[in-house]
Amino acid sequence: MDVLIFQGSPRAGGNCSILASWVKMTTEEHNKTFRVIYPHDLNIKSCIGCYQCYNTGTCTFDDDMTEIIDIIRHASVLVICSPVYTNSVPGGLKLLIDRCQAYHAELTITGHGGQKKKGLILSVAGRKGSSHFTCVTGVVIAFLGDLGFIPSGEILIDGMDEIQDIRHIPGLFERVRAIVQGCLN
Ligand SMILES: Cc1cc2nc3c(=O)[nH]c(=O)nc-3n(C[C@H](O)[C@H](O)[C@H](O)COP(=O)(O)O)c2cc1C
Repeated sequence: MDVLIFQGSPRAGGNCSILASWVKMTTEEHNKTFRVIYPHDLNIKSCIGCYQCYNTGTCTFDDDMTEIIDIIRHASVLVICSPVYTNSVPGGLKLLIDRCQAYHAELTITGHGGQKKKGLILSVAGRKGSSHFTCVTGVVIAFLGDLGFIPSGEILIDGMDEIQDIRHIPGLFERVRAIVQGCLN
């Protein structure tokens, strides 16, 4: 699979859903394959920090993360679409991110962690100003790096409390398309 999208907002039809649909559209235009994962719809237990993964390369739990890690393993580009929730990523996405520690452990144990895959960050915030994204980018850049994806671009869209719908922002679709194309070429 070429492009894996984590759509981190629980709001169906919200701004991150629109961003994810633009990524999908661009991917299809290039005849590449994609998959969208909605963490809030999944059964993902919270990481309990048992560190079994660092001894065996596998997680204590066998829930929806087993399949997600397999999907990540085969993705060439990983796109994280996330709203800012209390200066960070929403809880469902954070559960998924923390549970990917098992995949990081697997890469570390097997020595396969040096892959050069590409990752993108697309984020929206209600308030105005770039400072609201500091935690989101910090979390997501660390996450991408742990899994062998090089952070290869970001689009951070602030002021959504006022604008409401990202489709009202001139040129934004073209910016998203360009950043995705940059990863596909
Ligand atoms: C629980 C919650 C917490 C939020 N926290 C912040 C915040 O800390 N800073 C901010 O700028 N916007 C915050 N927002 C606003 C969202 O980032 C904004 O509405 C965004 O457009 C939602 O994305 P979506 O349309 O993809 O769901 C919060 C929204 C919710 C529901």
